[in-house]
Amino acid sequence: MNINLKIWRQPSDKKDGKLHDYRLENVDPNISFLEMLDILNNKLVKEKKDPVAFDHDCREGICGSCGFMINGRPHGPQKATTVCQLHMRSFNDEDDILLEPFRAKSFGVIKDLSVDRKSFDRIISASGFVSVDTGKAEEANYIPIQKSNADEAFLSAACIGCGACVAACKNSSAMLFTSAKVSHLALLPQGEVEQADRVNKMVATMDAEGFGACTNTGACSAECPKEISQTNIARLNREFVKAQLGSFIKKK
Ligand code: SF4
Ligand code: FES
Repeated sequence: MNINLKIWRQPSDKKDGKLHDYRLENVDPNISFLEMLDILNNKLVKEKKDPVAFDHDCREGICGSCGFMINGRPHGPQKATTVCQLHMRSFNDEDDILLEPFRAKSFGVIKDLSVDRKSFDRIISASGFVSVDTGKAEEANYIPIQKSNADEAFLSAACIGCGACVAACKNSSAMLFTSAKVSHLALLPQGEVEQADRVNKMVATMDAEGFGACTNTGACSAECPKEISQTNIARLNREFVKAQLGSFIKKK
């Protein structure tokens, strides 16, 4: 198959970017989208031109490193699929394909399609963990966990931190990401002790990083490659109100 690519090229956050046209011929429909970009980059290097910068690591849909906009959609046209798991057979011969970085104030462009998602790391560092003393591992069955809670916690923990939810949201909200992280700990007894502190700190950091508010459009969940549910956002809101009420009662 032959394809016509329009790719956003930007040397850095400080410099302006613009779209560049590239054509690739005889692309095997069974290669992945990132392999297609590897082929383009090899060609550019051979021509002594600057290769296109894009993020990737596992290429198995588990690390969350990859992600950019393909034809206006984060991670491209296939539902519940990261860009690294997308194949060229999802496109047609002679298709025009537009590639742009995730656009959000809190995700500055590093170069071309690569963006800085350290704001997510700072939300996790604020309190997205449980404090556990090291020592002998406890017998797992000492803490019984209801099956429905374990299943829900597992679904929330599937968030890979890719940032597609932010890119999909008209407000650049990070509520789906933050709520998934808060939820998987809120649903387990190990997360209970620090729950109020956790939700307060993570929400405060999310706001300080400049992410927008959630207006419940559902675009985040619809475009999430791990199909993280909006019910996590409802749980985050409940946990936040509980934490705020707790601090208010303590002050009285
Ligand atoms: S909630 Fe979904 S889209 Fe958002 S960071 Fe997690 S996996 Fe990516
Ligand atoms: S490269 Fe790891 S999820 Fe895509």
